[in-house]
Amino acid sequence: MPINEEGAAFKPLIVAFCCNWCSYAGADLAGSSRLNYPVNVKVIRVPCSCRVNPLFILRAFQRGADGVIMCGCHPGDCHYTSGNYFARRRMALLFSMLDYLGIERGRTRVEWVSAAEGAKFANTMNQFAETISALGECRRLEDIRCVESEI
Ligand code: FES
Repeated sequence: MPINEEGAAFKPLIVAFCCNWCSYAGADLAGSSRLNYPVNVKVIRVPCSCRVNPLFILRAFQRGADGVIMCGCHPGDCHYTSGNYFARRRMALLFSMLDYLGIERGRTRVEWVSAAEGAKFANTMNQFAETISALGECRRLEDIRCVESEI
């Protein structure tokens, strides 16, 4: 298990943006099916994957996230017809920009998870957490104003 700078076991902070209609329901199914995925995956429910503004992802990294994943309905299944197509294009651009800024490609991911795919949701989160653990902490975009002081 990787060790962080303070000598403690490293537990990556992962932010998962999930669309309300499919991926969030998939996460719910994973929970009700008692499938395990890491507790340090923080799920944020959004109406549709296209609601994920690229600034949300930058902000997550500024606030200390080590990895960010966006989950939505499968192509063709979006409740808003084509929201996930827009989101996919937007994320492709954002991820290449993040790559340029020094945020490794492995720290960001897009995954399509339907409401019936609880097992896929749990597997995806477990794999993603492993990848992020191997990459270690992400301090590249960390905003020191967001770090809680110990005073
Ligand atoms: Fe799920 Fe649009 S409603 S991606």
